[in-house]
Amino acid sequence: MSARVNLLSPEFVADPYPILAGLRRDAPVCQVEPGGVWAVTRHADVMSVLKNPQLFSSEGLVRSMEPSWLGYNPLARSMLVMDPPRHGRSRALISRAFTSTTVARLEPFLRTTAERLVDALLERREVDFLQALALPLPAAAIGHLMGLDASLYSRFKHWSDHLAAISAISATDLEQQQQVQRTVQEMEGYLKEVLEHRRRHPGDDLVSGLLEARVEGEALSEAELVAFLFLLLAAGLETTVNLLGNAALILADRPELLERLRAEPRLLGSFIEEVLRYESPAQATFRLTTAETELGGVKLPQHSVLILLLGSACRDEQYVSDGERFVLGRKEPANLPFGHGIHFCLGAPLARLEARVALEALLPRIQGLSRRPEAPRWHPSIQIRGLVRLPVQVVPA
Ligand code: HEM
Repeated sequence: MSARVNLLSPEFVADPYPILAGLRRDAPVCQVEPGGVWAVTRHADVMSVLKNPQLFSSEGLVRSMEPSWLGYNPLARSMLVMDPPRHGRSRALISRAFTSTTVARLEPFLRTTAERLVDALLERREVDFLQALALPLPAAAIGHLMGLDASLYSRFKHWSDHLAAISAISATDLEQQQQVQRTVQEMEGYLKEVLEHRRRHPGDDLVSGLLEARVEGEALSEAELVAFLFLLLAAGLETTVNLLGNAALILADRPELLERLRAEPRLLGSFIEEVLRYESPAQATFRLTTAETELGGVKLPQHSVLILLLGSACRDEQYVSDGERFVLGRKEPANLPFGHGIHFCLGAPLARLEARVALEALLPRIQGLSRRPEAPRWHPSIQIRGLVRLPVQVVPA
């Protein structure tokens, strides 16, 4: 098999899994396009990289988030791209405010929002599932968590799309560059106002918690606070939208599964875990080698960029039996969709809760979801696995 697979080719975007299976078998650590980055596809190799942040750094990737035309991007100062010891300090401070209680307190709001969205969806019957439920629920969750004005929720997707596009914008595309610059300034201005408001009127919310958090007497700086709020939007929105969208696609294509979940709602938890494993919304993350090293028998020079294909690792037969099949009720833990080690997703409990709340609101009220007869169109993205749209007809219960 040719080693230079292109992760952005239409063939790969439409269905990456057979190609990834081939890489796992024949070339588990190899250079791919675009850019000749090193693709890591086996579960064991991905895990060993994530367990060793000294040798495989997250910090080296700041440049791709903050190209010279942008100059400044708070996301490039967030804990996602920090290495120890800086990462540990930031994460400890943020974890003081972003706790299981913060997430649990959100549940009643999420349930009311999901019920309202399902009411509207049933009234219309023919909807784009993404616009009707998969996007507005996570947008409301993040907005509520940050204490943002509800009128802004519709702008979140636009904001997070612009942040996600930064590394792909060419040095000569001035128009797109200006759009992104405006978005970053708009977001920063708005989030600073939110921080200022909470300083003057502290409440029982995440932002007030972040302002109060102390580790050994030290607080988060203004720049760190803004960076974290940027990260919440970037890391928390698109991923969860795609978890809900991918779940709906699987249910639309497998009516017997939908029926089973309606009859046995206790299976919802394992259904969500299997969707995360089988169609991982976060397909990949990046690391940079800090020294020459060896991985999977391949020598990697210092400063090699690695793309860790989480979606591939989750289907690796060395780790999970019958990995290419959707199986309800698996025993293996499905944590890798949320990463591993020091950067393990801080929002995993929230993402799981949102999925559960959405499906618990939807399933008792529908008999089926039938897709329009068109092939699913997937986002041409290296990191995200999600549909561009999902037109469905809803059959009420
Ligand atoms: C299905 C939904 C989600 C998936 C699949 C997902 C996946 C991931 C992955 C793979 C990482 C690790 C990245 C790396 O090691 O480079 C990560 C980190 C992170 N995620 Fe999520 N995420 C999801 C939802 C959320 C939500 C809802 C939030 C917050 C509201 C969130 C906040 C974060 C944060 C703050 C980090 C950085 C943690 C650190 O650097 O220590 N995520 N996520």
